[in-house]
Amino acid sequence: MSQQKQGATAKDAVALLTADHDKVKKLFHEFERCDPAHQGLKHDLAQQICLDLTIHAAIEEEIFYPAVRAETGDEQRVDEALEEHASVKELVEHLRGMAAGDSELDGTLQKLRACVEHHVTEEEQAMFPSVRQSDADLVALCEQLMDRKEELEHEFGAQPVRGNNTAEAEGERSATGQAGS
Ligand SMILES: [Fe+2]
Repeated sequence: MSQQKQGATAKDAVALLTADHDKVKKLFHEFERCDPAHQGLKHDLAQQICLDLTIHAAIEEEIFYPAVRAETGDEQRVDEALEEHASVKELVEHLRGMAAGDSELDGTLQKLRACVEHHVTEEEQAMFPSVRQSDADLVALCEQLMDRKEELEHEFGAQPVRGNNTAEAEGERSATGQAGS
């Protein structure tokens, strides 16, 4: 696991995108550790993963990848990343339509995790180092990424993910009569 990156205070596009990767990896890990009895919480975590990935893919596609193309000239790498995003989006779409307790939730999440991990490795080991070596203004790009991310979070009504204490979170669900929603 990579070291903790700066989150909202990241001042460089690569650091910002890497922090997004770390966050989603953490959510996948949390999902896997989740007690199978807590289907409502598993469903919420899956939806949070879907939301984070949707926003991350959008800011990469709208802002970061065009800059990578322009600054590194590496069309093939960007095209491959876009293909990987398409696979991620298909799985996200599938997950979005699932209710809590859906028998396909775990299997689809596993596929999504494998897909995302592969994509993250490609970006962190190849694309990011190459863009760091280019003349790209990563600080200016970071500003643009953060602005767009904020807009999208607002648009999608993003809410902070539940706390790490799954039992406690599940207890809160039951107390508010939302279990299994
Ligand atoms: Fe990424």
